[in-house]
Amino acid sequence: MTNSLRVRLLWWLLVPLAIYVFVTGKAAYDNARHTAELVQENTLLASARMIAGEVEWSDGRLLVDIPPAALEVFASPYGDQVFYNVSVDDGRLLAGVPDFPTRRAAGHDSPNYYDAELHGQSIRAVGYVRQMYDNGAIRRVLVSVGKTQASRDAMIRELWRPQLVRQIEMVLLAVALACIGLTFELRPLLKVKEDVMDRDPMQLEPLRVERLHTELRPIVEAINQCIARLGLQVAAQRRFIADAAHQLRTPLTLLETQLQFARQHREIQPSLSEALSAMQRSNRSMVGLTNKLLLLAQAEAADYTQLARQKVDLSAIAQDVVENLAMFAQKRDIDLGAELADSAWIVGHEALLSALVYNVTENAIRYTQPGGHVTVSVARDAQRVTLTVADDGPGIPAEARSRVFEPFYRASADTEGTGLGLSIAKEIVQAHRGEIALGMREHSARGLVVTVEFAAA
Ligand SMILES: Nc1ncnc2c1ncn2[C@@H]1O[C@H](COP(=O)(O)OP(=O)(O)OP(=O)(O)O)[C@@H](O)[C@H]1O
Ligand SMILES: [Mg+2]
Repeated sequence: MTNSLRVRLLWWLLVPLAIYVFVTGKAAYDNARHTAELVQENTLLASARMIAGEVEWSDGRLLVDIPPAALEVFASPYGDQVFYNVSVDDGRLLAGVPDFPTRRAAGHDSPNYYDAELHGQSIRAVGYVRQMYDNGAIRRVLVSVGKTQASRDAMIRELWRPQLVRQIEMVLLAVALACIGLTFELRPLLKVKEDVMDRDPMQLEPLRVERLHTELRPIVEAINQCIARLGLQVAAQRRFIADAAHQLRTPLTLLETQLQFARQHREIQPSLSEALSAMQRSNRSMVGLTNKLLLLAQAEAADYTQLARQKVDLSAIAQDVVENLAMFAQKRDIDLGAELADSAWIVGHEALLSALVYNVTENAIRYTQPGGHVTVSVARDAQRVTLTVADDGPGIPAEARSRVFEPFYRASADTEGTGLGLSIAKEIVQAHRGEIALGMREHSARGLVVTVEFAAA
């Protein structure tokens, strides 16, 4: 059987209802048949009695005059045929059909009803005995009246059909109501499905159970427990990365100092000095990676509801970042400009937002060829604050755009970098419920425009 809950519940409803309709339908049919037979037998007996009442002695002989009323009682629109036979116990036929299958009750004279065949038709008949006395002689006159079954069948149909139709209508109504009811009642379940489907993978809040049926709650509560455990697991992993990055920083800093000290040694061979400076470069990039991992872990763990509910001015943050990067831009011969609104307040975490602007702007400076232009702008309207960082460098090819937000993904191998900058940026934007998008500059085939939008505070 199918696995659909709806279909299965309908089966559970339909099968007992069908059995019920069958049983009550059968009982109704038996009842209707019984009633129709009773009515028919009463009419047969009335007719036989009327005929018997007309049997009389005349000159020592029995005679009968069939009263029209005795046959008129059978008048019906169903075209039934009526047969009769009046015969005396000495074998004489007084009236009627000679080959009528007469039958009288054995041993007594009470009316006897029976089914028989006459001229190839099945009939229901009654045998009624009247005793006639004359001068001490007793004669038994047997009046038999039979009739075909058309009106009886019609009566059964008329009594039984409406009941059957009513019951079938009731079943259909029940099924229709059950279908509508199931559709309504299954909605909360579908809602849960949508709720689960629409989530992003790291949204680990519990599903809502308030509006669910009692039967469904345990399932959703079990899912919620699973989500909670998953949340703990994810938090533990993030903590682990953050702790590991944190722990790495101290030995790396120490190493940096020791390398510096070693390089200052006078009697050092030139080749050793080269090796030491290479070690120092590796160490610096390791420090950079560790710091970025720590920042990524912090950004991932940041939660909008828990972010310090303080207002920060994105213009001021961008101003700081541009000043910090001015030297770097100058070194790379990049024209770094800023177009900042007077103030652009949003709710958020200052250090994280600063890292966001820094990463995006540093990318623009780093990947744009010498002589290029980078513009950082912050604009504001009633609802939104928009940060835009535009450059006229090589841009990012369309096929790589969706991937640059993945950790460790780098579109160009010829420059140094960890591939974490944009992942961190995205996490920070998400933690602030903002949106980040990569686009092209207007009227230009070159360059990249990174747009970040936040709700204005
Ligand atoms: N403004 C840009 N112009 C061209 N390519 C860019 C730009 N910004 C980012 N990219 C490409 O996207 C990739 C991912 O950038 P992301 O900032 O995440 O990492 P990264 O800069 O390589 O390393 P990190 O920033 O961690 O030191 C880069 O390797 C680069 O190829
Ligand atoms: Mg970068």
